Amino acid sequence: MLKEIHEQSDVLVSSMQGRYDGLSNTVDLSADFQDSPISKGRIQGITRCLLVGMGTSMHACMIGRHYLERFAGIPTEVDNAAEFRYRRPLLDANTLVISVTQSGETVDTLAAMDEAKRADCLQITICNTPGAQSTRLADLSLLLGAGAEISVASTKTLLASIMALHAVSLSLGKLRETLTSEMEAEQVVNALQLPSAVSTVLGNSGKILQVARKYAASEHFLFLGRGLGYPVALEGALKLKEVSYIHAEGYSAGEMKHGPLALIEDGMPVVVIAPKDDYYKKTISNMQEVIARGAKVLLLTNKDANQVISENI
Ligand code: F6R
Repeated sequence: MLKEIHEQSDVLVSSMQGRYDGLSNTVDLSADFQDSPISKGRIQGITRCLLVGMGTSMHACMIGRHYLERFAGIPTEVDNAAEFRYRRPLLDANTLVISVTQSGETVDTLAAMDEAKRADCLQITICNTPGAQSTRLADLSLLLGAGAEISVASTKTLLASIMALHAVSLSLGKLRETLTSEMEAEQVVNALQLPSAVSTVLGNSGKILQVARKYAASEHFLFLGRGLGYPVALEGALKLKEVSYIHAEGYSAGEMKHGPLALIEDGMPVVVIAPKDDYYKKTISNMQEVIARGAKVLLLTNKDANQVISENI
């Protein structure tokens, strides 16, 4: 798992290769979708998008939702594939279903895809395994090219899936004429900086290990975030449970005051994900509420953020 975590910068480079062009500052998925029988008219006629996946892949979907709404102007929902398959979802031929699955073989995700196929939805799958069942069911497949993920807990494929959802959303935005060339250029320039940003974070692993050692005996952890930070909080809690057997919960930071604040005990570690984005001030104010209740906050934020807290990673 550690090896795969440290491969993430290279995985990002290869997942952007041939898709993100730093000379023209454009995204182009025509090489992936060249045999596609899907017309521009069908793409423009999409009225709604459903993103389905399980576990970590569903967390990627929750981030993808922001991109699809923002760049492609498509009302988007995220569904846990295991719920989706049993709740008789309302689907039609103008619904785009995007499945995210590292293996391409997760039974619930495949069952959700079968359901979508019966309703004649347009389907894209984002998958890391060439020839997997999800690629056979979908109309279009975007392969992650992240290399085999041997660890049971997904790491590098999460980042690659998010990148793929970003690329799909930008491409759909171009076809649907909801994305300006300025927005596209800004996104491409930022995306191309990610591999080195990831290397910088991973280069900090000495500090991360120090903090981990300090809190390793804790029995409970909370992870809080808003906006894109919310699925990151859910993913953090999932990973901690899965690999450390420590009880952890992920919440939207804004939800804390509606009950979960009662869980905070003196000295409880709370990981707060607060990048300097539109949600920053709100998240920091939620963070202050948990500090007032005695939490030890581990804040993940930009380097120049100047917050006085327990640990600033
Ligand atoms: C968590 C993890 C799982 C998978 C989930 C879906 O670390 O790996 O939650 O994300 O089982 O698997 P795929 O993506 O293969 O459909």
